[in-house]
Amino acid sequence: MNALEVEDLVMHFGPVRAVDGVTLRIREGSVVALVGESGSGKSTVGRCIVRLLEPTGGTVRLAGADITHLSRRQLRPHRRYVSIVFQDPAGSLDPRLSVGDIVGEPLRLMRRKGNVADALRRVGLRPEVAQRSPHELSGGQRQRVSIARALISEPRLLVADEPTSALDVSVQAAVLNLLADLQRDLGFACLFITHDLSAVEYLADEVAVMYLGQLVEQGPRARIFGTPAHPYTQALLSAAPVPDPVAQRQRKPVLLGDDLPSAIDPPDGCRFHTRCPVAVDRCRTVVPESRVIGSDGHQVACHLVEADGSGPDVRTSEGVAR
Ligand SMILES: Nc1ncnc2c1ncn2[C@@H]1O[C@H](COP(=O)(O)OP(=O)(O)OP(=O)(O)O)[C@@H](O)[C@H]1O
Ligand SMILES: [Mg+2]
Repeated sequence: MNALEVEDLVMHFGPVRAVDGVTLRIREGSVVALVGESGSGKSTVGRCIVRLLEPTGGTVRLAGADITHLSRRQLRPHRRYVSIVFQDPAGSLDPRLSVGDIVGEPLRLMRRKGNVADALRRVGLRPEVAQRSPHELSGGQRQRVSIARALISEPRLLVADEPTSALDVSVQAAVLNLLADLQRDLGFACLFITHDLSAVEYLADEVAVMYLGQLVEQGPRARIFGTPAHPYTQALLSAAPVPDPVAQRQRKPVLLGDDLPSAIDPPDGCRFHTRCPVAVDRCRTVVPESRVIGSDGHQVACHLVEADGSGPDVRTSEGVAR
């Protein structure tokens, strides 16, 4: 059973094609990291999944139920299956409420029973914190409160949208460890949206790479980090250090140069072709379909990658992978 099935998801804001055909599945209890540079559409995917946005097209199924176009009222019985944690714990917690009210609010909305003190303890906070106001807490503590709130309904899927990037570097690791421990103990599936590739290696079972509203590559974490097939994934990873010093010396960071093209008028053909160091004519005109290139579910949308997964590697001076 899949916790989440997203098929051909489209989210346009007027002329802005923020998400343009994303297909993604998350198995029960597994963690999928969604990566890609700023503006590629990651948060928009997350907001469609938790139905803070109503998608322009495609489908979102939560634990088998199609929630794509349900009304607020129709969504109510499905709400408990999915929660979201945002980047900025200060902005996402109502300062007029006590911590206890904030954490307990989903229970009231869903008319479910649950224990706020237990929820606080689970995220490493003392139950007395329930009486406090969120602005009396540190950034790390506030993010623990939003995690407690997100998990109190025992969701089967958690969308974590850059949950540590607004925090002090000194507390980021602790919050990340907490999320990892909770995920393992409670067994919820997770869409983990992040820029932090070391966190991806630490937390994710699978990785999905987004570029200008579309997924260019997805697959098991070891596969994406070990033998990334798409030139964009390779470029993204090239900035991150590799443990093997020999391999490290053969690597050169691939500079993508200019900014992400506009989502209002994305390039024809492969959307990455304007920045791709190995693009050929076909890339400029023909949209590459996503294809499976391994028995482990590794998928890539690039004309230059062969059926067996071989293809260019923009990180080596030879420019050829494997
Ligand atoms: N409510 C909105 N109205 C109009 N455009 C929007 C809206 N929300 C997002 N966008 C646009 O959609 C695109 C994708 O934005 P999104 O926030 O999903 O990117 P992201 O990958 O999460 O970026 P970041 O890494 O900076 O968080 C961007 O071009 C953004 O400007
Ligand atoms: Mg975002």
